[in-house]
Amino acid sequence: MRRVVCPGSFDPVTNGHLDIISRAAQLYDEVVVAVLRNPNKTSLFTTEERVELIREAVKKLDNVRVDRFEGLIVDFCRANEISAIVKGLRAISDFDYEMQMAQMNYSQAGVETLFMTTNPLYAFLSSSLVKDFARFGGDVSGLVPAGVLERLNSRLTES
Ligand code: PNS
Repeated sequence: MRRVVCPGSFDPVTNGHLDIISRAAQLYDEVVVAVLRNPNKTSLFTTEERVELIREAVKKLDNVRVDRFEGLIVDFCRANEISAIVKGLRAISDFDYEMQMAQMNYSQAGVETLFMTTNPLYAFLSSSLVKDFARFGGDVSGLVPAGVLERLNSRLTES
């Protein structure tokens, strides 16, 4: 079984993430989307909400499952018999840090990282920009799945 992981914060998942996840699902037997639970970082959505929103968005992809993790991604890989991490690269600005993480993960644990170039339609897209734009009334439909749009609007009007 060729199993890979797409890790991230996904606060919230965007159409850019979903593009990478669905393309990875065409290449591998199973894709695990692993949502980082980071107690030191404030997020708009709880880990459970982020997991639920991704599950809803990938429900038609039979070989994609969604899980959460805490700590090192390489430990999650080891525990789940995953040999490679799949990441999207949007621009050269992503490259330096992604390269460092990939080399660290390979040198310390032998876990490979495979980079996919982001669909140019989503090259500018990030969860942070989506939140910023939506917070001040911007229209982010078309950038996030319908379930996220709904939850984003209600969460932002609560605060
Ligand atoms: O969506 P993000 O926040 O850009 O995702 C970053 C993530 C979660 C993939 C990365 O920070 C990560 O793998 N964190 C887990 C902790 C870890 O393994 N750190 C060492 C990386 S060399």
